[in-house]
Amino acid sequence: MFSQVIAVALCALIAQPAMAAKCTRTYTVKEGDYCDSISAAQNVSTYQLAVNNVNHINADCSDLEVGQVLCLGTQGHDCQTTHVVGAGDTCDGIDSAAGVNITLLVANNPQINEQCSNIYIGEVLCTATTVIVPPAPSGAKSVSIPSSTPAPSSNGDDENIPYCDEL
Ligand SMILES: *[C@@H]1O[C@H](CO)[C@@H](O)[C@H](O)[C@H]1NC(C)=O
Ligand SMILES: *[C@@H]1O[C@H](CO)[C@@H](O)[C@H](O)[C@H]1NC(C)=O
Repeated sequence: MFSQVIAVALCALIAQPAMAAKCTRTYTVKEGDYCDSISAAQNVSTYQLAVNNVNHINADCSDLEVGQVLCLGTQGHDCQTTHVVGAGDTCDGIDSAAGVNITLLVANNPQINEQCSNIYIGEVLCTATTVIVPPAPSGAKSVSIPSSTPAPSSNGDDENIPYCDEL
């Protein structure tokens, strides 16, 4: 019990002020949302959404909850120039349409592999002409790219302390 109280206090100290201070754009999850649908509608890249909510959303993005507030962008690292990958898209095509090169595209979307063989339809890429990718979360080797699990149709139990999955 005692250690749980300490853990809760630590969690509040570490997680909440940092999130509140840095986030400059937010979005409240609605029924049927999934990560890439939010990304596409809000002009936030798949990677940026995953990084900014790395402690809020699981690797598959299967735990979105209606009413949950997500951080879309942080100061200085908020790419709002985006491209939703469509059928037949290639990195070369995306690059020339956006006026960027592959170096820039990969810098802003670090999940893209060297061959650009792992982009998928519905993925949202940052196509900004400067490098504004948010830094990778400390301790995390890479950010998982979520799948397409929609938010459940009703709010789940609120038994867990939100946004603090270390507990
Ligand atoms: C997303 O970008 C498009 C194209 O620039 C723009 O028309 C749209 O209003 C933007 N949506 C949001 C939510 O910022
Ligand atoms: C890619 O574009 C950036 C920004 O315009 C530029 O600085 C860089 O030299 C380019 N890289 C290559 C390989 O062309």
